[in-house]
Amino acid sequence: MKMFGKSKRLYETSKRHLASGVSSNLRSEMKPVPIFINKAQGSRMVDEDSVEFIDYIMAYGPQMLGHSHPAIVDAIKSQIEIGQTYGAQHKGEIELAKKITEYVPCAEKVSFSSTGTEAVQLALRLSRAYTGKQKIIRFDGHYHGWADTIAISFTEGEELSNYKNPKSSPSTAGQNVNALTDVIVLPWNDVEMLEATINEFGGEIAAIITEPIMCNSGCISPKQGYLERMRELASNKDILLIFDEVITGFRLGLGGAQEKLNVTPDLVTLGKAVAGGLPLSAVGGKKEIMDLVSDNTVYHMGTQNGNPLSVSAALASIKFLSRKNGHVYKNIETLTNKLTNNLEKLAEEYKIPLLINKQGTIFHTMFTSYKEVDTFYKFQQRDIPRFNKFTELLMAEGVAVRPSGLWYLSVAHTQKDIGETLDKIEKCFNKMKKEQ
Ligand SMILES: Cc1ncc(COP(=O)(O)O)c(C=O)c1O
Repeated sequence: MKMFGKSKRLYETSKRHLASGVSSNLRSEMKPVPIFINKAQGSRMVDEDSVEFIDYIMAYGPQMLGHSHPAIVDAIKSQIEIGQTYGAQHKGEIELAKKITEYVPCAEKVSFSSTGTEAVQLALRLSRAYTGKQKIIRFDGHYHGWADTIAISFTEGEELSNYKNPKSSPSTAGQNVNALTDVIVLPWNDVEMLEATINEFGGEIAAIITEPIMCNSGCISPKQGYLERMRELASNKDILLIFDEVITGFRLGLGGAQEKLNVTPDLVTLGKAVAGGLPLSAVGGKKEIMDLVSDNTVYHMGTQNGNPLSVSAALASIKFLSRKNGHVYKNIETLTNKLTNNLEKLAEEYKIPLLINKQGTIFHTMFTSYKEVDTFYKFQQRDIPRFNKFTELLMAEGVAVRPSGLWYLSVAHTQKDIGETLDKIEKCFNKMKKEQ
């Protein structure tokens, strides 16, 4: 059977009916074609051509427990028997909010939405309302969703950004050109530029929003002391610090990156991995800030907020992930290390200049001659066409990896998956060598 044949045909049909043929622009990055999935279970997906893939895309992060984990399936089945959405409160929301406040250091109170994009909008609104100021600092290469107010400077595959003066114009046609007037874009991991900007504009800045680990662009860790200094600078100037933990929340551990890095923001946004693959996001933060929602000073609405199916999945997911004192995370990290260590060895053997940045169960692979990639600027200089080719070869071997190079593991991945993956990677490296 020809690989990708049905997906190619379905994509053509899809393009006739669905704008762009995919439901999120990023999905069209998949080579040679956005695959159409027929079913998925555990660490594996099967496409419409009946080809099985070991999955390292994991739905772009949410599938912390893998596909259709029994704990999630049972929770949803029980809930759906008694209603899928009420437009009214239910006890599960209280239970979930309590759990989040228990685990996530900065979260004293919580507010639910469905997507990360929405959570970020609420966090920005709360910051402006709380501080009475307008400007927001964000960083080049971070992604905070696609809304007009923040969609900027996520230049995946675009021209090299200007390090000292990152792009701050709208990132898409149709974006309100005025929406970004109060957004200052800075290079990340550069404490001097942050200090200089805060010295100049501190009195006007409502919030600094950052991914605590730059997962979207290279899985880059903050430099020693960088987030601590950011925290200090923010506090000194009455600026709120927002950690966008839509990727890292519940993925690095139930306390997220803030617990791991021991830096506590004022607000956090959570999404992706919180609800085991169902749509649910949250903003958590200090009581006095979140209380602006409680007294209706800040509007926060959404028909599906606190959706019972998503909440039931989130509770089941937390129950599973909190077993044996976080041992579940340790197991996935051990597997991740096995994969990355052996991948590095293979690359060395085949003289392929591979660099891996890793954080727990997430890692970013890139072909680059840099020995260290600690800025977005360096990340952008990786060999994108060669990596695209590599992921295309991997897809043909039945290993699904994002062309951007960001890999996610889950509870469902096994030693067997890792062994098979490494064999397939070696085959791809061999092909790449022959084609050189
Ligand atoms: C750090 C971060 N924030 C926000 C978002 C937006 O989340 P969503 O796609 O659920 O709107 C994403 C999505 O990838 C993200 O990675």
